[in-house]
Amino acid sequence: MDNIIQVKSLNYQVDDQKILTDINLNVERNSYLTFVGPSGSGKSTLMRIIASMINATSGEVLFNGKNLREYDPTTYRQKVSYAFQQPTLFGKTVKDNLEFPFLVRKQEFDRAKVTSYLEMVNLTEKYIEKSVNDVSGGEKQRIALLRNLIFPPEVLITDEVTTGLDADNKNIVRSLIDHFNRDEGVTVLRVTHDDAEISAATRKITIEKGGIKND
Ligand SMILES: Nc1ncnc2c1ncn2[C@@H]1O[C@H](COP(=O)(O)OP(=O)(O)OP(=O)(O)O)[C@@H](O)[C@H]1O
Ligand SMILES: [Mg+2]
Repeated sequence: MDNIIQVKSLNYQVDDQKILTDINLNVERNSYLTFVGPSGSGKSTLMRIIASMINATSGEVLFNGKNLREYDPTTYRQKVSYAFQQPTLFGKTVKDNLEFPFLVRKQEFDRAKVTSYLEMVNLTEKYIEKSVNDVSGGEKQRIALLRNLIFPPEVLITDEVTTGLDADNKNIVRSLIDHFNRDEGVTVLRVTHDDAEISAATRKITIEKGGIKND
């Protein structure tokens, strides 16, 4: 089996509080996993560890067979991209945000490409010049997600990215993620509390009290 990510005997503890205990997980390349479980059970913490934003207390995460700590952090973030539970836009304009993926790759901003991405999430070219203060919460979420996808990663982690969106925009975001999984080979790790997403999920992993529940 071709595993893009393997989590082995992973623990995460802050002071004497055990937040994740003995997590073992194999993620097959190009799969689409849905993580569910009560609030506070450790889902975002696990995702942050896989995304290399925080370090596990013990155990390891392998990406393409190699410990994630062996990768250069900037390169790793381009390959394993985390879409935040509560995204924020930085800088002054939407452009500052959508230009960032080009800058880190030392590439010119490609306005046509960015416009086609904006259109994929029901936004228009005119958003490029908008101030970050003048976009709604739901628009912010979609723009933040585009930051993760303009250059498709190998693994996309989405942490409750459809929360708070209306039904139409939830569907837009879901089909966008489905498209990248199906047509671009992106492996997806999705965290959600959304009933429709949970019932449509093909592979569900339940996190409870910091551990994987076997059901
Ligand atoms: N740095 C930290 N210091 C102390 N406690 C932490 C820290 N990070 C996370 N926790 C605790 O770990 C537990 C798991 O948090 P986490 O954010 O992973 O939950 P979650 O499953 O994503 O919840 P939700 O569904 O509400 O987003 C919570 O009790 C949280 O308060
Ligand atoms: Mg969370």
